[in-house]
Amino acid sequence: MQMLKDDVVLVTGGGSGLGLGVARYCKAEGAEVVIFEISADKVRQLKEEFGPDALIIQGDVTKLADQLACRDAILARYGRLNALIGTQGIFDGNVPLQQIPLERMDALFDELFHVNVKGYMLSARVFFDLLEASQGAMVLTTSTAAYAADGGGLVYTATKGAVRSLVNQLAFEFAPHVRVNGVAPAGIANSQLKGPGALGLDAQKQSDIPKDAFLSMFRSLSLLQELPSAEDHGPLYAFLASRHNKIMTGQTVVADQGMLNRAVLKGGH
Ligand SMILES: NC(=O)c1ccc[n+]([C@@H]2O[C@H](COP(=O)([O-])OP(=O)(O)OC[C@H]3O[C@@H](n4cnc5c(N)ncnc54)[C@H](O)[C@@H]3O)[C@@H](O)[C@H]2O)c1
Repeated sequence: MQMLKDDVVLVTGGGSGLGLGVARYCKAEGAEVVIFEISADKVRQLKEEFGPDALIIQGDVTKLADQLACRDAILARYGRLNALIGTQGIFDGNVPLQQIPLERMDALFDELFHVNVKGYMLSARVFFDLLEASQGAMVLTTSTAAYAADGGGLVYTATKGAVRSLVNQLAFEFAPHVRVNGVAPAGIANSQLKGPGALGLDAQKQSDIPKDAFLSMFRSLSLLQELPSAEDHGPLYAFLASRHNKIMTGQTVVADQGMLNRAVLKGGH
């Protein structure tokens, strides 16, 4: 049985990393996949990979007009939407607050909150009626940074806490028609997660961190020792997005390889 057979699933920020892995998994589970992505290069690659079997739309989640155009394109091609999976995000470079130049504070805050929080809010507003009509689901991406310190700098951490709260309030407002849940990953292999333009770090990607160094740091903290791929997150997202989830709304699943389930006394493994 395919979990998402004939469902139309929109993945925002699905051009690389987590969203792309989840989109591939949803396709394998029978979904008609729509990917909404800002990067022209990634859009080109997505069109090559998926061909005519998926709807690939270039747009910016922070722009209402782009999200409305995405909605129009989905209606024109499929006439319905069963699930919205939000995965876009940008990082703050993990720069400590006191090292952020005062004159960059406004720009950094706006950049991160627009992509990481406003993008999801606009999606919820724009796609609610389609999801209500299908009695569908939303799944939003937060992070372990919303639960414990040192998962990013102050601004990234605050955006991820905000996403956790969005899940709570949206689940309340959209019940009983649309189920809304979140996922909080820890590390993801091959992520392209970008730094902030406001600090001149937008050319910096998480995938630039030497793999061995990242893996050994991850293993020293987590209980399960493999750094998960984006596709490893697929079954969880697909379940929460599917009609098979009749039991959860307003929850965020911490998918962290057991990282937060420890008080550090003995250290590594
Ligand atoms: N990488 C990790 O270790 C990690 C850990 C916890 C949570 N997360 C979260 O997972 C999510 C996915 O991150 P990733 O690591 O796969 O990074 P990624 O950069 O590979 O994927 C994010 C995608 O969102 C796109 N995007 C960025 N801004 C956009 C905008 N304004 N409009 C449309 N698309 C936009 C990017 O171009 C990219 O394709 C993010 O929300 C991130 O915060 C990542």
